[in-house]
Amino acid sequence: MTVLAIDAGTTGVTALVVTEDGSVASKGYEEFAQHFPEPGQVEHNPEDIWQATLSACAAALRGTSLRPSCVGITNQRETAVLWDRHTLAAPRRAIVWQDRRTAGLCGRLRDAGHEPRVSELTGLRLDPYFTATKLTWLAEHDPGVWAGVTSGAVAVGTVDSYLIARLTAGARHVTDPSNASRTLLYGLASGGWEPELCELFGVPEPALPEIVPNFGPLGRTDPSSFLGLDLPISGVAGDQQAALFGQTCFDVGDVKCTYGTGSFVLANLGEKIARPENGLLTTVAWQTPAGERTFALEGSIFVTGAAVQWLRDGLGLIGSAPESEALARTVADSGGVVFVPALTGLGAPHWEPEARGLITGITRGTTRAHLVRATLEAIAFEVRDVVESMTAGSVQVLKADGGASANDLLMQVQADQLGTAVERPAIQETTALGAAFLAGLGAGVWGSQAELRETWRLDRRFEPGERDDAAYARWQAAVTLTRTAAH
Ligand code: G3P
Repeated sequence: MTVLAIDAGTTGVTALVVTEDGSVASKGYEEFAQHFPEPGQVEHNPEDIWQATLSACAAALRGTSLRPSCVGITNQRETAVLWDRHTLAAPRRAIVWQDRRTAGLCGRLRDAGHEPRVSELTGLRLDPYFTATKLTWLAEHDPGVWAGVTSGAVAVGTVDSYLIARLTAGARHVTDPSNASRTLLYGLASGGWEPELCELFGVPEPALPEIVPNFGPLGRTDPSSFLGLDLPISGVAGDQQAALFGQTCFDVGDVKCTYGTGSFVLANLGEKIARPENGLLTTVAWQTPAGERTFALEGSIFVTGAAVQWLRDGLGLIGSAPESEALARTVADSGGVVFVPALTGLGAPHWEPEARGLITGITRGTTRAHLVRATLEAIAFEVRDVVESMTAGSVQVLKADGGASANDLLMQVQADQLGTAVERPAIQETTALGAAFLAGLGAGVWGSQAELRETWRLDRRFEPGERDDAAYARWQAAVTLTRTAAH
């Protein structure tokens, strides 16, 4: 038996056909357009996400003769999507998690004293990153569309719920606790939408999806909408929680970091809700059909791989992302150059939505190799900031995945900086793999988490070497400058 996993990420959709032994039989990928209507704003056309999903799945299915027995979904989280319940057409573009347009609104809510209560209920904070203030903005700035929301004609959700609506031809309007817990509307303790928060952010609760477990029978694909396939949808989770699952971080204290556009460090907290401290978030990792929830502590870093992309597309310093490793290896260190890639503000653990990027320590001798090396070091420093806030240094091993985990230099610097071993699995597309695991568990492809753990394979373990504490001190000084400049 095999599983079709759909990973609808921020810049493209990946589809994998995953076999029972946990290997990838076939893959499809399709990018979609990014829209930047104004500085700090990021939007996606939901129809583009759906079309990319169809293309990626068709390509993955063309690449193998195996026929999947179920579908799993994972997705970029927090992005606010609206669609017509009847036609499934989106009346406007989605507002993406990276979008900073509600920074002022968040500030006003904070000044009015709402943050402690919002954090207590949700485990999150008042930042434009999360879904709810994007919806408040829409109500204010797009009243025509919002009238459809209040009348019940237009559904509200995140990318998971939008895709499930499209896959089932509108039969299901559902989300799962891992995605719901990123909206600022879900109560961690109550396990449901919080009327108090819906009221605060002006979101009518009937417009929101029903919250269902992360695996089990969630709906069926409609063949006329989805490539002629009639399959159970049996797993869904936000991409970072899916990666935690895909790395089989099933025990309390297991930690993973996914290096993508941003990097997201999640630690398994078990069944207890721990109040987040030190600029971290508490979130739902997953919920079983029996209703047992596992929680996670999260450090969300907004710009890591995107900084390497900026070196490529913004500065033209490298021709491709993988080139960054070879170029960075031509110098022994960054020559004192520090790059704080606060290109869309700073996320965890600092939370400065208005911060801008900063480069310090440039001399007449600085070359592009130093700047590229400083960028890779910045990723490792950002992750160290978060891991140290998380655990006061008690992580046994960091499981790494995502595109940039293929960079051996970055992985070694990461291990050195953390003073902890970093393990990279054989399959680094762990977000999609996690969706496959959840769906396979929901449809009986695998019988238990213990069985899934058996499929996890190590590619390489990076042992910590000498730690450059002077470089980290320079990083911390540069972060302080960045934060000061934001005020
Ligand atoms: O919270 C944002 C996260 O879900 C985005 O992940 O991999 O699509 O950039 P990614």
